Amino acid sequence: MVREVKKIAVVPGDGIGREVISEGLKVLKKLEPNLSAEFCLLDLDLGADAYLRTHEAMPDSVWKEILGADAIYLGAVGDPRVPPGILEREVLLRIRFDLDLYINLRPCEMYAGAFTPLKHKSASDIRFTVVRENTESVYTGVGGVFKKGTAEEVAIQEDVNTRKGVERAVRYAYELCAARAGKRELTLVDKANVLTYAHQLWRRVFSEVGQEYPQIKQSALYVDACAMDFVRRPERFDVIVTNNIFGDILTDLGAVISGGLGLSASANLRPLAPEKTVSRCWGMFEPVHGSAPDIAGKGLANPLAAILALKMLLEAMNEKSAAQKIEQAVAKVTAGGKIFKPESTDTSISTSAIGDLVVSSL
Ligand code: IPM
Ligand code: MN
Repeated sequence: MVREVKKIAVVPGDGIGREVISEGLKVLKKLEPNLSAEFCLLDLDLGADAYLRTHEAMPDSVWKEILGADAIYLGAVGDPRVPPGILEREVLLRIRFDLDLYINLRPCEMYAGAFTPLKHKSASDIRFTVVRENTESVYTGVGGVFKKGTAEEVAIQEDVNTRKGVERAVRYAYELCAARAGKRELTLVDKANVLTYAHQLWRRVFSEVGQEYPQIKQSALYVDACAMDFVRRPERFDVIVTNNIFGDILTDLGAVISGGLGLSASANLRPLAPEKTVSRCWGMFEPVHGSAPDIAGKGLANPLAAILALKMLLEAMNEKSAAQKIEQAVAKVTAGGKIFKPESTDTSISTSAIGDLVVSSL
């Protein structure tokens, strides 16, 4: 049988990105014979080393390869040798924005055997997902600086919220909430008491679209109260929808309560009309963590987040059974109790040993 070919652009990137992606690729290699498509990997040289060598963060030739791929599997970008903002904006945000990957899906679902710093909470209490809008907000870079470096310096960075951008994020969150076997409750997280223009737009859209989903319980919560409830009573959440910057901040907190950054994966998606726009490539899959230069190259990074990002990639590519196998293997590895130090999200065995454990549990 001739299998369809799917092209995956692999961007290991910087720091621990390289180590964790190579564990993800071990897992993919093991699963490959049983996939319905043939996965063809394109190794893309992006990140600090390439930038320092060529002075280009995203050469046109690499961008072309990305446009022709079906999905991107990314480790992390960011390196102390490069001023902050360059790699982030020209690689990560370029991909999110120019491919219009308007959803950043970030599950905060604790695996049994993982560590949560929340006393009296366990895996059954921490089972929610954050839908982060991924193409607007202060991330757009709209604004500027005036009288830079003087005592009168003015810096303005605008919070961009469009009707279209808000509506598609909210609609996706309702659809997700309706499809999932959860409590069927969608919570809008905003700061509508202060950002009265921007976030009252979110509130209006939320209740307007919500009329189409009477089966879903709908509530709105201010972001500060939300942060408090992540710690105080995470069991109240099912699906959360929020803007780009709040989603960024809340999902680090969400990661740490649900097992640590070493276990948190994310999918950047263009879900509702993938056929219509920009390019063939409609998904980037990456761990929530960054490049962690302080521990890079030491075998200390937990590759489970990258392995779970691969799971999200396979799910999006319609390889449901392979995705499920990864999920079960990771659950088995965390429940085995061998990889985390007691009372900590730190791992007690090496990056590649964890990868091997997952492979042998598949
Ligand atoms: C994330 C990261 C990025 C973000 C950075 C690296 C630009 O923190 O994916 O959460 O802020 O979105
Ligand atoms: Mn972040």
